[in-house]
Amino acid sequence: MFDLLPRTDHCFINGVWGPSENGDVLASLNPSTGETLCDFARGGASDIDRAVSTARTAFDGDWGKYTAAERGRLLARIGQLVIENVDHLARMEALDVGKPLTQARADAVALARYMEFYGGAADKLHGETIPYLDGYTVYTLREPHGVTGHIIPWNYPMQIIGRSIGAALATGNACVLKPAEEACLTALAFAELAHQAGLPPGALNVVPGLGEEAGAALSVHQGIDHISFTGSVAVGKLIQKAAADHVVPVTLELGGKSPQVVFDDADLDAALPFLVNAGIQNAGQTCSASSRILVQASRYDEVVSAMAKRYGALRTGPALDDLEVGPLVSATQKSLVERFLSQTDGLDIAATGSIVENAPKGGAYVAPTLFAGCTPDHVLAQDEIFGPVQVVIPIEDEADAIQIANGTDYGLVASCWTKDGARQMRMAKALRAGQVFLNNYGAGGGVELPFGGRGLSGHGREKGFEAMYGFTVVKTVAALHG
Ligand code: NAI
Ligand code: MG
Repeated sequence: MFDLLPRTDHCFINGVWGPSENGDVLASLNPSTGETLCDFARGGASDIDRAVSTARTAFDGDWGKYTAAERGRLLARIGQLVIENVDHLARMEALDVGKPLTQARADAVALARYMEFYGGAADKLHGETIPYLDGYTVYTLREPHGVTGHIIPWNYPMQIIGRSIGAALATGNACVLKPAEEACLTALAFAELAHQAGLPPGALNVVPGLGEEAGAALSVHQGIDHISFTGSVAVGKLIQKAAADHVVPVTLELGGKSPQVVFDDADLDAALPFLVNAGIQNAGQTCSASSRILVQASRYDEVVSAMAKRYGALRTGPALDDLEVGPLVSATQKSLVERFLSQTDGLDIAATGSIVENAPKGGAYVAPTLFAGCTPDHVLAQDEIFGPVQVVIPIEDEADAIQIANGTDYGLVASCWTKDGARQMRMAKALRAGQVFLNNYGAGGGVELPFGGRGLSGHGREKGFEAMYGFTVVKTVAALHG
């Protein structure tokens, strides 16, 4: 069924494909139809245990002896194989996640870009020499943590594998990856490509399974030296507590409620595609989705009607039809979003997109919906919806913009649209977010750009060089030589 993966129901441990120890499998559903796509392995605690110990052996052995340049060359080779297989990967992700093909393809290309970036950066990370007392030479070494655990979600599997596994391998860690139960296929395909590129056994292990089984087992495993997690706030808290028990660092990326602020002097033609796309990309199931649009009163009607026009043209349908919007990842996710859509007291529906007629009845389709006249404290303006839903909130002035933009528990991404350079600088400083975009918005993009949250959006930074700092620890060496 998938050229890259003759079997989908195995784990990848120590460079070898094999069933989970108990032999159990789970069904992976195609969210465009609701039908079973294939089986995948239901990994458990004993599989995680094997994966962690094989990662340790790799770290202490062959993989640990790779020089930075050798790791870089290997990652570049993996990136090359990813590029050669972009179409296979895109189709696999489209079927597994429900992502329209063009968006799935962009993720596959981003995965290759991460391999290129971290491949190129592997031998460019170095320590410092520090002036100290007379007779001393002091320098720092940046060393890998050892064995790193990676628990990733279903919304952007390839991009998150790229940023997380890419940075961890580049810095010499050995990895255990637990992909999401809703979508684990591209994680398995990536392991196969890494294997074909020559990654030594044990450097990357993939154990699919349920969050409360394989995921929980990984987060509490005493053999893990670092955990990175992307997903819900509730599970992020569990991960941080588990990590506290064995005192290891965590990186948490937990989503957001990211605003775009449109000031009276904004170039609306330039802003419009970003205002809408940042909300409906991947059917709104994006940690950095822009789900709140704050508009200054004098442009409010104009923005709402221009956005409504775009919404009216949005078509939702099967991933392989490659329309603007695909299904949500699952019936569960659909009901989470529908619960929000039933709490819209006081809001005006400005526009909805359509669901195409041939969309299979069993698919998890939700028509994109734009709400106007929203107050900053409304539940739809405060909670992460993770569906194709945006709210427009009227604002008065800059002070109002800052207060409302910063007025949620999250702080992942923010953007502002204004031609006033001084206002751009003030806003960039005032916005509480890990990334601020001025006159643009980047949902999900930016291999090179450090990314991460404040508040409930989490902590730690991924992407760019920052991720490599996170996947290393500094050792200070002080030599007294007289
Ligand atoms: P989730 O947080 O349950 O799942 C994310 C990952 O964590 C998956 O690999 C899952 O298997 C694992 N997991 C679940 N329970 C675990 C546990 N007890 N111990 C260790 N690992 C565990 O997210 P879910 O249920 O898929 O989505 C629920 C909501 O979370 C979404 O509606 C959205 O608001 C948010 N979310 C945010 C994401 C982001 O990109 N920041 C990604 C996915 C979900
Ligand atoms: Mg969950």
